[in-house]
Amino acid sequence: MPSVLLTGIGELVTNDPTIGDRSRLGLLTDAALVVDDGHVAWVGDRVAAPEADTSVDAAGRAVIPGFVDSHSHLVFAGDRSAEFAARMTGEPYTAGGIRTTVAATRAATDETLTAGVGRLVAEMTRQGTTTVEIKSGYGLTAHDESRALAIARQFTDETTYLGAHVVPSEYADDVASYVDLVTGPMLEASRPYARWIDVFCEDGAFDADQARAILTAGASVGLAARVHANQLGPGPGVQVACEAGAASADHCTHLTDADVAALADSGVVATLLPGVEFSTRSPYPDARPLLAAGVTVALASDCNPGSCYTSSMPLCVALAVREMRMSPAEALWSATAGGALALRLDKVGWLGVGAWADLVVLDAPSYIHLAYRPGVPLVSTVWGRGRELT
Ligand code: NIG
Ligand code: FE
Repeated sequence: MPSVLLTGIGELVTNDPTIGDRSRLGLLTDAALVVDDGHVAWVGDRVAAPEADTSVDAAGRAVIPGFVDSHSHLVFAGDRSAEFAARMTGEPYTAGGIRTTVAATRAATDETLTAGVGRLVAEMTRQGTTTVEIKSGYGLTAHDESRALAIARQFTDETTYLGAHVVPSEYADDVASYVDLVTGPMLEASRPYARWIDVFCEDGAFDADQARAILTAGASVGLAARVHANQLGPGPGVQVACEAGAASADHCTHLTDADVAALADSGVVATLLPGVEFSTRSPYPDARPLLAAGVTVALASDCNPGSCYTSSMPLCVALAVREMRMSPAEALWSATAGGALALRLDKVGWLGVGAWADLVVLDAPSYIHLAYRPGVPLVSTVWGRGRELT
């Protein structure tokens, strides 16, 4: 692949605090970047740029690292727009809606499910996402969970086994047997296609002891933990995530001071999902206490048919700024470098020498426009591993 000089960058977000303005975003103005063999090979002042085989002029636009969307549920069939409409006229969101999607997903063919994931991943790419995590969780049998993960694996290495999404109706009277299935045959069938294990630790889903058993079983076969925690109310999810050494505790909508302290002490990433509060008309968590305590905060879409059917990381950035009291700089960092930390990936989420050349050229002079111009399609071109994807 020929090397490419991307020059005329009005504002370059590197997320490397050792360069540029030395802020967390490592901002450079009037910058250039060389891509070679899929990687960033050089970053710096435009006038000092080395030559490359070809050259592209960004004409003063801003360039940011590709978004790292560390939380999504893309393998599903069916439609829950009526549930959304009912919610907007006063119905509350409950975990029970998941079972509607489970029925539709079990009935769908592999081809239908694969096409659905492909469509959503393409939609994400067009909006600047270059790394995506995809969970199972709408199969809830050994066959259907492993099938979902095998499909997800065609699109990403960041696949998460979520057999513990909710207790399916056929096990409603025997939750213990369902946990045995999740930690036994379903785990065994799913493990070859998964990197992570997740559990929805919440009233109406799985309690703390069940969540611990599920994460422990996953760890015993090499799956690292992530947890759906403290979404619908205060609860033990965050503490379970911290005890388990999870990579990330996701949602974090209802946190106590002790939860914030546990996140800070353990280094577990708090992944905030503002699209969920938006789409369920719920109160947003405040990011300030987390940031003040030194917790690493990530932002992700949680794209799924129930609680939040957006695939747009720019929307999540805008919501985090407007509703969670993050600055535009904090929100962009969390949607890129923060997501990479939530997935324990070291070559994405930044644009310094050695990182993958996963980047977004914005139709704007500054990354601030992502929050300043909500809903506007600012993503101009997207490069993944040094190739133009859009
Ligand atoms: O992350 N909280 C659990 N799971 C999803 C929602 C799934 C659904 O409603 O279908 C979430 O919000
Ligand atoms: Fe989720």
